[in-house]
Amino acid sequence: MKPHFETLAVHGAETASYEGAISFPIFQTSTYCESERGYSYSRSSNPTRNELEQTIALLEGGKFGFSFSSGLAAVSTVFSLLRAGDTAVVSEDLYGGTDRGIRQIWKGLGIRFSFADTRDLEKTERAFDDRTKLLFLETPTNPMMRVSDIRKMADLAHAHGAILCVDNTFLTPALQKPLSMGADVVVHSGTKLLAGHHDTLCGHLVTNSEQIAERFGLLQRTLGNALAPFDSWLTLRGIQTLPLRVETHCENALRAAESLEKHPRVKAVHYPFLPSHPQYELMKKQASGGGCVLSFELADDDVWPVLRGGKFIRFAESLGGTTSLITYPTTQTHASVPEKVRLSLGITPRLLRLSVGLEHSDDLLEDLEKMLAKHS
Ligand SMILES: Cc1ncc(COP(=O)(O)O)c(C=O)c1O
Repeated sequence: MKPHFETLAVHGAETASYEGAISFPIFQTSTYCESERGYSYSRSSNPTRNELEQTIALLEGGKFGFSFSSGLAAVSTVFSLLRAGDTAVVSEDLYGGTDRGIRQIWKGLGIRFSFADTRDLEKTERAFDDRTKLLFLETPTNPMMRVSDIRKMADLAHAHGAILCVDNTFLTPALQKPLSMGADVVVHSGTKLLAGHHDTLCGHLVTNSEQIAERFGLLQRTLGNALAPFDSWLTLRGIQTLPLRVETHCENALRAAESLEKHPRVKAVHYPFLPSHPQYELMKKQASGGGCVLSFELADDDVWPVLRGGKFIRFAESLGGTTSLITYPTTQTHASVPEKVRLSLGITPRLLRLSVGLEHSDDLLEDLEKMLAKHS
């Protein structure tokens, strides 16, 4: 019998055993003298990072894993596969940092970007041209929680000779496995659910393709953006409890979404495991839970008392950690996205994003009630 996901998360890839240590050791070294296992310099490879890279690959059902100093370092490495003259089709609703990189860095290197509504097969197909090498999407997206059909997107990319990269940050392999649905590359901000405790930044790439893996290896050791040993260890530790945490995150988030949906001050709630979500059926087919993030639109402009009014729900960027966080995409995560684009996507000044943590859901609902109470 193949070990279950929970068992793999606890045991990891077990790439090597050192003195029978149960907790994988931190190899806090930059260099090696005649290493028996072939290590030479930690920018190229390090045993702790290697254990993490193989563990994430195992969990995603992939052969090759790479860990980076942040999610954006991993995203940058994906776009570094492209050359001047290539086209990338990207989903129009993306994490603000990825969008910023596209508009302010990679475009300037001669790469063409075509933004598409990747919920819609025909619209996405129209964004392709004969130089398209990459289709890049988030599902669900940050922050509108739009869901794309991974299988259809993979078929579309392959029909055009391109590869599909899916940002799986919001769900992790505990809930969704894009490689099993045809994606060629999975990218993560491991800073979020994978590491899970608001104490480290990290990013990851997983692929089954030897050719892509070779390129990622070259980029990682040349761009010098690999994850440090201590952060690798923190992430390995976080991953051990990933399945348990994700289960509670999903239960708490669904309860919060249901409660917000009934609140008179809330105009709309975006959470893909709510039956009212437009891609609920698709989401149920390709993921086993809705994740920890939802966004909601207030019916009025009085956002600041809501953002700052929580006792347990703290006003801060990020998501996927133990503590519940409320974020204001307009001034925080998506501030660099042009206003016109933000508004066209639904990222209005009334949109708030909530990452539901591991507190007791009764306490969270009470907090939300308090945050939404009008005191005028
Ligand atoms: C979907 C998604 N991808 C990538 C990133 C970038 O990750 P990091 O902050 O670890 O660089 C984020 C950050 O919020 C994100 O939400």
